[in-house]
Amino acid sequence: MSDNRVSFFDTTLRDGEQAPGYSMTLDEKLRMARELENLGVDVIEAGFAIASPGDFESVRQISKSIRNTTVCSLSRALAKDIDAAAESLEGAAHPRIHTFLATSDLHLQYKLKMSREDALQQVKAMVAYARNKCAEVEFSAEDASRTDPDFLCRVIEAAIANGASVVNLPDTVGYATPSEIAQMVNNIRSRVPNIDRATISMHVHDDLGLAVANSLAGVMAGARQVECTVCGIGERAGNAALEEVVMGLRTRKDFYGLEYGIRTEEIGKAARLLSSITGIKPFPSKSIVGANAFAHESGIHQHGLMNNLQTYEIMTPESVGVKKTELVLGKHSGRHAFEERLKTLGYNFPKDRIEKLFEAFKKTADRKKTVSDRDIVALAETAVPLVGNPEKMYFLESFVVNSGNRMSSTANVVLKRGGKNYQEVALGTGPIYASIRAVEKIIHHPFSLEDYSIQAVTEHRDALGEASVKIRDETGIYRGRGVSTDIIEASILACLSAVNKMLDENQSAIGTGAASSTQRTFEQDMLGCGHTDKQFPQS
Ligand code: KIV
Ligand code: ZN
Repeated sequence: MSDNRVSFFDTTLRDGEQAPGYSMTLDEKLRMARELENLGVDVIEAGFAIASPGDFESVRQISKSIRNTTVCSLSRALAKDIDAAAESLEGAAHPRIHTFLATSDLHLQYKLKMSREDALQQVKAMVAYARNKCAEVEFSAEDASRTDPDFLCRVIEAAIANGASVVNLPDTVGYATPSEIAQMVNNIRSRVPNIDRATISMHVHDDLGLAVANSLAGVMAGARQVECTVCGIGERAGNAALEEVVMGLRTRKDFYGLEYGIRTEEIGKAARLLSSITGIKPFPSKSIVGANAFAHESGIHQHGLMNNLQTYEIMTPESVGVKKTELVLGKHSGRHAFEERLKTLGYNFPKDRIEKLFEAFKKTADRKKTVSDRDIVALAETAVPLVGNPEKMYFLESFVVNSGNRMSSTANVVLKRGGKNYQEVALGTGPIYASIRAVEKIIHHPFSLEDYSIQAVTEHRDALGEASVKIRDETGIYRGRGVSTDIIEASILACLSAVNKMLDENQSAIGTGAASSTQRTFEQDMLGCGHTDKQFPQS
């Protein structure tokens, strides 16, 4: 690799997915992996093959489907882990085994109960073992930033001597400062005799908010691989955010003078896909991808921008795939204009999906004066179910709610499935609770509500509300999002999106109405909160 090029190792699907709330299904991981390939990352860490059968299958499927990017599986420095990693990577065009062992005294003594010498022998043996199974091996010295520098040099030298072509120096707990990171990299570069045979990699956590600064400090000192995740998701406070590292390199090319293969114009799309999969949006002021990252509110700023964009804009929204010119569509806009706008926003949907989306757009345009790009993005990511057979899915036909401050709420919901309508009435402490209960009664499949949130997509009075739900049954957790100018409708749509995924995963349970004894239902959840039907006798 050129000395001048920084390679991007994306671990959204491994370190990122480990973070609470970010777990993904196999199908979601595949979609994310394809998007990462499109974004131009050099390596996709697809999972930790030995961790679970689901992780193994994800690495296997991603290996089969990704042809241009290196696919990697994590493994501890243990033969059984390396065997699983190698097996899961069998179909990969460019496989890499990433094996790691902690090297700090703290981890050796309290976690691994191992001496430094034993650890060194294990690194030698296991890197060689991995190298026998895979042409490309990366070794990580976990907690490198808190490892004795002399010992770290010995470990890295041994890893390279036994076949590692990438050596990773994690700041596992986000403890180091940028100058300490630079010192660690300089130490390795000047004291490890065979370092010219390997690429130095940074893997930095954000516990003190320094992940990006530390990654770039490592790069300045000579590291040529950065491990990061989309939006910086990852264990605890997360990892270095890919979009921030690469836009640092791009915006300050004058300072760093380095190349990379990321197509930065695809960043917005990758971040949107991640949030549509996980149901978690970046906070509004998040660099690069937050909703306010390119919004200029203050009059002084706006005035400066009008005279010269560079006064307050160091990079353009277009350079990260965020469209600034908020062209608005309305109820008179035709299918063609809508389709063009979808394409500009990065969505290339098949005809039937555009058709459904256009219907949702028209409905929204009837209720709202103007439909902005942000509304369209919200619709594109929520209005049309993404998985399963449409014949087996439930769609919202109609609903009526009756609610007030001195009464229980009643929801009358009609869902359509396979051409037939199903109707139920349910009571609840609020209209959303009552509506979700009615859905649960119709589908005859119990679930618990793990999480619910609602937020406005735009700022105006007629803003679309975007509801996110996370439901659980015994097969797993399912997320859904829904948008509408009516927050109850948005909530029902979000619930249906999650419900359809759940039923698709669990077809055999449909219609039986059989709740397992361990399965908590949505109703029981609410009982736990003191809301019961007993309080609201059905009349
Ligand atoms: O944070 C860390 O040290 C890791 C390693 C397994 C690379 O995630
Ligand atoms: Zn990590």
